[in-house]
Amino acid sequence: MTYQKISYCFEDKRKSDDVKLKGWIHRLRKQKGNIFLTLRDHTGIIQCILPRTEEYSRVTIESSIELSGVINKDERSPGGYEVHVDNMDIIGLSDNYPIRKDFSTEFLNDVRHLWNRSRKMQSIMKVKAEVLHSANEWFHNNEWYQVTPPIINRTACEGGSTLFKVDYFGDEAYLSQSAQLYLESLIYSLDKVWSLTTSFRAEKSKTPRHLAEFTHLEGEQAWATFEDILGVEERLLTYVVKQVVEKNYAELELLGQDPNDLNKISTPFDRITYREAIEILNQNGKTMEYGDDFGTDDERILTLELDNPIFLVGAPVAAKPFYTKIDPCDEGNVLSADILAPKGYGEILTGGQREDDLDSISRRINNEGFNTEDYSWYLDLRKYGSVPHSGFGFGIERIVRWLCNLDHIRDTIPYPRTRARSFP
Ligand code: 4AD
Ligand code: MG
Repeated sequence: MTYQKISYCFEDKRKSDDVKLKGWIHRLRKQKGNIFLTLRDHTGIIQCILPRTEEYSRVTIESSIELSGVINKDERSPGGYEVHVDNMDIIGLSDNYPIRKDFSTEFLNDVRHLWNRSRKMQSIMKVKAEVLHSANEWFHNNEWYQVTPPIINRTACEGGSTLFKVDYFGDEAYLSQSAQLYLESLIYSLDKVWSLTTSFRAEKSKTPRHLAEFTHLEGEQAWATFEDILGVEERLLTYVVKQVVEKNYAELELLGQDPNDLNKISTPFDRITYREAIEILNQNGKTMEYGDDFGTDDERILTLELDNPIFLVGAPVAAKPFYTKIDPCDEGNVLSADILAPKGYGEILTGGQREDDLDSISRRINNEGFNTEDYSWYLDLRKYGSVPHSGFGFGIERIVRWLCNLDHIRDTIPYPRTRARSFP
């Protein structure tokens, strides 16, 4: 807690040095005559000193308390201030808090409902809240409409292998992998639409960047070309990063991220083509062939030395879903692009131009092994006033992992869902 920031919880404003605070005990040291404790609330921490009476000695780590006292500037205290406590009321005693110093990752995942109180998780959640807020703000400022697509679907978007099946009153349905197909339908009404939904992927792979359930920020724009949508993506991302640096400087520092590094991000993002990426990887000891998909390690190699995000543009037709538009200048290639985050983090977005021709898209739905009848509503969009259009999907947890400098994506979400874990 800082003096300025905690002023919201001053209940007695007559004398600016008198404070009343509510919070949880973050650190505790009981000495002969005094108790030193660090109090935590959503704004941070502040050091407090109180006499070691019998009543006050009952307090424990993570107890919730209310206290009043006098606040002084003290350079040596965490946060720069110290409170000399006149009165403390214990609101909820904490009985033998299980998180202590030497904890394993597995244990912290088991007690996630408590670990979410840690300063690390608190800082990450604050950054994430700002990512979501600023993205919303950018869309609003640029006249995009937020819409609410369904989560329970009958049509797959990203291929069959990662679908979660749901028994929908006796019929088979799926949890949404992406809102894209529904967003495509809504541009005919609103031109520029975006959504924030939970997407689901039955990911078999155990990587530090895959979740079974993630937060998907997607946009779709009528009349937009491939170039148009790349411009939207880089402007939106740059705005979000700058806002996070401005609002969450302290949190980024606490997490070991240098906010000044992030602040250097600028548009336009450099581009490498799919073919150039294959070459770079092969020069770095990989044996990649045209048509191969890039994995976590490949994207790490491509971005390790970078400071700015880049676009990875184009991909072989067979490597991308049915909806991607075939490049009219290079028929083996699609007008699709990923944004790769720098410093080894890799893909945080995929987007591109959509196929708007009825015959072509019907053929490709068939080739993917889906039944075109299941896509009848989607194919109608190509029958009734089809329009060139483009869109994208950001993985919010992927962005947060990069901004917060995290090894594993599980820490970007309070209750991660992976193949190995759906509890607590
Ligand atoms: O690349 P993806 O699969 O593309 C789509 O779903 C498009 N339909 C989006 C669109 O154009 N509307 O997913 C988009 C982004 C990825 O770049 C990644 O950031 C994130 O979503 N993502 C995941 N994040 C965490 N865990 C997973 N299993 C993810 N799968 C995708
Ligand atoms: Mg992708």
